Amino acid sequence: METIAVKMEKITKSFNDVKVLDSIEFKLKRGSIHGLLGENGAGKTTLMNILYGLYNQEDGEIFINGKKENISSPVKAISLGIGMVHQHFMLARPFSVVENVMLGRKSRRGILLDTKQTAEELKTLAEKYKMEIDPYSKIWQLSVGEQQRVEILTAMYQGAEILILDEPTAVLTPQEVDAFFETLKEMRDDGKSIILITHKLEEITSIADEVTVLRDGKMIGRRAVDSTVTKDDLTRMMVGRDVLFDFPKNTIEPGEVKYSIKNVCAKNDKGLPALKEFSLDIRENEVIGVDGNGQKELCEVLTGLRKSDSGEIILNDKKMVNKEPVYYIEQGVSHIPEDRHTTGLALNWSLKRNLILKELNKAPFVKNGLLQPKVIDKYWNETKSEYQIKSINGEEKARALSGGNQQKIILAREINLNPQVLIANQPTRGLDVSAAEYVRKKVLDARNAGTSVLLISADLEEILQLSDRIAVIFDGKLMGILPRGASTHEIGALMMGKKQEVASCEN
Ligand SMILES: Nc1ncnc2c1ncn2[C@@H]1O[C@H](COP(=O)(O)OP(=O)(O)O)[C@@H](O)[C@H]1O
Ligand SMILES: [Mg+2]
Repeated sequence: METIAVKMEKITKSFNDVKVLDSIEFKLKRGSIHGLLGENGAGKTTLMNILYGLYNQEDGEIFINGKKENISSPVKAISLGIGMVHQHFMLARPFSVVENVMLGRKSRRGILLDTKQTAEELKTLAEKYKMEIDPYSKIWQLSVGEQQRVEILTAMYQGAEILILDEPTAVLTPQEVDAFFETLKEMRDDGKSIILITHKLEEITSIADEVTVLRDGKMIGRRAVDSTVTKDDLTRMMVGRDVLFDFPKNTIEPGEVKYSIKNVCAKNDKGLPALKEFSLDIRENEVIGVDGNGQKELCEVLTGLRKSDSGEIILNDKKMVNKEPVYYIEQGVSHIPEDRHTTGLALNWSLKRNLILKELNKAPFVKNGLLQPKVIDKYWNETKSEYQIKSINGEEKARALSGGNQQKIILAREINLNPQVLIANQPTRGLDVSAAEYVRKKVLDARNAGTSVLLISADLEEILQLSDRIAVIFDGKLMGILPRGASTHEIGALMMGKKQEVASCEN
């Protein structure tokens, strides 16, 4: 039997006259896990959407099991044994697991099947691949990880022999990732061929048999993943240069406690308790990474965007509780908000103006009530070159910039204020590797300059890389504080509500 399950040759695709895939070659061996690696925007999803029949290529050919195919629709793809699980799930939330599976099947064969029998078959399949799931639970009752299992099971149920998974681990906890990888290995050993889209190098080195790297719509290389492949090799292929993964050790030790959060209680938007007697001390020159739910409310309380019910926030011996946002800015609390579109930037304002947004009534930018264009221009030009912001003249509206460049403006603005405290909420979300690296370096620079940093990130690697200590919240309470060098599993355990067993390093 043909050993190559998928062969894509010279695949080219443009959107609005912009070439996003340029003569891509892709080959998937049967019974293997193939990593498709690349930065944001490299073209990974587009290439796989073509294989799944969601888009048509302008040029190039696709062979499935050695036979040339015209994959004009997902229905065609499914009939060829190709399944795809997207980043955003496509399940019908009011329906049960088994109903969702049958919806897929009904559209394919036009027959309504017996629910009970389908549920049984589903259970067998789930057991085989170690994906525990109750066929009768409703989708809305399931965690994201469980919903993902339903998507995968649906594809398997439809007879997928080739399974495309688009950044599947993004929604999983470290423990779930382990179980998920076991499932993938099980499938591979069963002869299935799997394409794992990712931008995480660890996933390639830990599970892939082969890897294809895309960069800017071009195929950079394909190689077997054996013990000779290093993270550095993969990075160079992905980014086109070296990237610092292990940041230089911080030479400055954290100092005295500068910023204290004491017994803070606050409610979420639904009026339910989100923070329960939450306390945390952050020292000078210290980054504390925070993980777990309740983070959003915490950031809001710390920056005046949400009222707390009780508790205190103390910065340099000064109490600051339930003041207006501008008060916190004046006290030196900087904030990189989670959602840069609604709280970070004035999208219809120029980049220059956004840069000095928090200093619009202050010298040197304003004198005698008048803006000082020369001073502003000079400051803009310095910042633009330091942060490598891609802009024509700074007069463009913030709306016109890419996410990475928008984030750099916010970062420059917040860090140039020389803050006492920096609340950085998902500072690198949506950025590519190079931009993320720059943002992380800037956060560490602020730390080394004396700022107390509270870092919130869904990216555990980032937390581990930057934090002096790691605080984990569960159910609105502090579950424990882990030292630098803690493992993702220790964090994961606390995140799932397992109280800290290891010695606390809280001081
Ligand atoms: N439907 C679309 N319309 C226009 N541009 C698109 C569309 N889908 C993707 N793109 C563009 O194609 C490029 C590749 O995107 P994508 O395949 O999603 O990359 P990746 O999955 O590697 O992050 C990006 O520049 C993206 O903006
Ligand atoms: Mg993608």
